[in-house]
Amino acid sequence: MSVERALLRDKIPNHVAIIMDGNGRWAQKRGLPRQQGHMEGVKSVRRIAKAACRIGIRYLTLYAFSTENWGRPKEEVSALMSLLVSCLHDEMPLFMENGIRLRVVGQSDVFDPSVREALDAALEKTSSNTRMDLVLALSYSSRWELAEAMKRIGRQVEEGGLAPEDIDDSVIGRFLATSFMPDPDLLIRTSGEYRVSNFLLWQIAYTELFFTPVLWPDFTEEMFYGAIADYQGRDRRFGKVSVSNQTKQ
Ligand code: IPE
Ligand code: IPE
Ligand code: MG
Repeated sequence: MSVERALLRDKIPNHVAIIMDGNGRWAQKRGLPRQQGHMEGVKSVRRIAKAACRIGIRYLTLYAFSTENWGRPKEEVSALMSLLVSCLHDEMPLFMENGIRLRVVGQSDVFDPSVREALDAALEKTSSNTRMDLVLALSYSSRWELAEAMKRIGRQVEEGGLAPEDIDDSVIGRFLATSFMPDPDLLIRTSGEYRVSNFLLWQIAYTELFFTPVLWPDFTEEMFYGAIADYQGRDRRFGKVSVSNQTKQ
C-alpha cells in the first residue's frame, strides 16, 4: 500500500511547517550555481503544496527567506527575489486549482516595491480560496516577530488598553504576526541540519519535530507522507500523561 493510502485520515495534522533547506548544497553537488538549487526547490514547493492539499492539511507554512538570509551575497538575494516574483505569477494556476489561499508573514517593508506589488497581487487573487492556507515566511525571523509583538504590547499598556498583569500566553499570541494561524502540529526540516534557525520559536512549544537528511529539491511527496506517518505514530502528551496511562490507574 502506498504511504499516502496508509495515512490515518482522522489524524492528519492541521498545520505543517517546513524549513526548506539544502537548495545551495543540491546545486553545489552538481557543480551548478546555488541559484539553480533554488529554482529546483520551487518544484518541491509545488509538489508538497499539492500533496498537502490532497490529504486535507489546512495550513502549510514554508520558511522561504529568513531575516538573516538578507546577509547572503547580493546576487543570490536578488536571484531569490526574482524567483519569488516569477513563482507568484507562474504558480497562480496551482493556487487557484487547489483552493490555496496565500498568506505572508515577515517584515514586508524591506522588499523592493516590485516584490511587494507581486505579493499583494497574489494575496488579493487568492484571498477567497478556502481549502488550504499556504503561509510564506518571507524576511521572517521569530525574534523579529516577538520584538514587534512586544513593541505593540508596550504601546497598548502605555495607552491604558492593557494591564501588564493581564499579559499571558494567549495575549502574546494575539499580537504576533502569525496570530491568524494555529501552532504547527508538525515541523519538518530538510538537509540534515538539526536546528530551527529562528523559525516560529514561540509557536513550536509542543510541535512534533521531524528532521531528514534529504535536500529540499530532492524531497518528494512520498517522503512528505512518510513524515506525516511518523507524526501519526507519536504520542503527544502536552506535559500530561498519555490517555492509555490514565485508564490504567
Ligand atoms: C534554503 O536553501 C533556501 C533558503 C534559505 C533561501 P539554502 O540556500 O540554505 O541551501 P544550503 O543550506 O546552503 O544548502
Ligand atoms: C533557514 O535556512 C532559512 C530558510 C530555509 C529560509 P538557512 O540555511 O538560512 O539556516 P542556517 O544558516 O543553516 O541556520
Ligand atoms: Mg541552508
